[in-house]
Amino acid sequence: MRIGILGSGLMGGKLGTLFARAGHDVVFSYARERSKLEGLAREAGGRARAGTPREAAQDVDVLLLAVHWSRVDDVLAQAGNVDGRILVTCSLPMNADDTGLVVAHTSSGAEELAKKVPGAHVVSAFGTVPSEVLFAVFEARESERRPSLVYSADDEEAKATVATLIRDVGFDPVDAGPLEIARYSEPFTLLMARLAYEGDEGPAIAYRFERYEEQN
Ligand SMILES: NC(=O)c1ccc[n+]([C@@H]2O[C@H](COP(=O)([O-])OP(=O)(O)OC[C@H]3O[C@@H](n4cnc5c(N)ncnc54)[C@H](OP(=O)(O)O)[C@@H]3O)[C@@H](O)[C@H]2O)c1
Repeated sequence: MRIGILGSGLMGGKLGTLFARAGHDVVFSYARERSKLEGLAREAGGRARAGTPREAAQDVDVLLLAVHWSRVDDVLAQAGNVDGRILVTCSLPMNADDTGLVVAHTSSGAEELAKKVPGAHVVSAFGTVPSEVLFAVFEARESERRPSLVYSADDEEAKATVATLIRDVGFDPVDAGPLEIARYSEPFTLLMARLAYEGDEGPAIAYRFERYEEQN
């Protein structure tokens, strides 16, 4: 797949690197220094390269949006037309000091994003785990007990594509339903952040759902 990264920080830098290591064509974009994007591309290897948001959005199958909520309008404006693209968002609608959600209950960041780019197929994915766990999950991808990763979207084809990327990174994709389910997964991320950053066991945490036969 050809994948454009909009926001090459903790999430975008790592996910873009793993997509490239899984064999995809990746363009890293949107950092304050072009040299950072070039370094990421060099280290990711394969056919990864650095570009502008507009270049990252050109001729791609998938775009990953990984910026702070306050930067979404800016990066989308720089990217230009994203009609027809699968736009995967891991971006949470957090306030300026990252202490709370500015959209919740009756909508979600993912749904608000879909309103901004009605021609794109928005998928909410990857945002429910901390960046610190991504490389470890990738390294463990051959193990039988993969961690879960919930995703939601309205377009079935877009969902199937993103499920492939979720598997490529090493997770077991869990289809949570339509995009509006991001109203539940986005606040869940704050629980994950609490467990990742407030405990003494380190931030490299993921989650796994188990199903059981009902017993009477
Ligand atoms: N970090 C996590 O573990 C985590 C987990 C789940 C969800 N999320 C969500 O994912 C999204 C991205 O988080 P993150 O932690 O990856 O953020 P981050 O590390 O701050 O990355 C944001 C990227 O945007 C770039 N950027 C910011 N302002 C810019 C500007 N004015 N011009 C050009 N580029 C600019 C940054 O550039 P620089 O590289 O130069 O700083 C960076 O590459 C957020 O919405 C967050 O809520 C994060």
